[in-house]
Amino acid sequence: MSSNVVWHTHPVDQEVRSEQKSQRPLVIWFTGLSASGKSTIAGALEQILTRQNYHTYLLDGDNVRHGLNNDLGFSHEDRQENIRRVGEVAKLMADAGLIALAAFISPFRDDRRLVREILPEGQFIEVFVDAPLTVCQERDPKGLYAKAVRGEIKQFTGIDSPYEIPEKPEVHIRAGEVSVAEAVNQLLSYLHEIGALQAGYEPVALEA
Ligand code: ADX
Repeated sequence: MSSNVVWHTHPVDQEVRSEQKSQRPLVIWFTGLSASGKSTIAGALEQILTRQNYHTYLLDGDNVRHGLNNDLGFSHEDRQENIRRVGEVAKLMADAGLIALAAFISPFRDDRRLVREILPEGQFIEVFVDAPLTVCQERDPKGLYAKAVRGEIKQFTGIDSPYEIPEKPEVHIRAGEVSVAEAVNQLLSYLHEIGALQAGYEPVALEA
């Protein structure tokens, strides 16, 4: 960065914007293998939060790679850049007072740690969507695992590219064992416990 670029502080800041929305800004970061259920769980949580009048935005790996990150592939370097950019976008969203949900494989611990570090203390919640590789391979909704096994896709996470499991995620969802509704309730109860949601929280009944 040029040393001629100087940070400018504006009168309307995160506090003002979050007060206006009556909510605590957060980045809820879902990490896990492809087909582990990250996007589905994040989408279901977002649906409940918006119904309860929270202001949210879901950043989804497959979607962001259609636009902002359509110049990136799946090498270690490109994934790093993918997560760096998305981390910065999520930070802007939290600064706007939103509850940002991010669903990315984000296979590398260091990349996830960097996102945590650029956010204000307590605003990054790492959610490990933990489904065994065998379960993800059986689900294989896009047929990508089958392609990777046949060698038609290179550097596929879990096949010939590593996934580094989170050491201390705030929330650990056993996605091979629980339903989407159970996962959402686990998240809501955690958010409630840390005081991120207003009083009056009730577990929700969702279709399984
Ligand atoms: S990340 O590793 O950089 O965090 P991201 O979440 O953005 O990945 O994108 C993952 C999605 O891209 C997968 O759900 C899958 O649909 C698709 N994909 C295509 N090629 C690969 C690959 N080599 N490894 C993992 N996912 C891939």
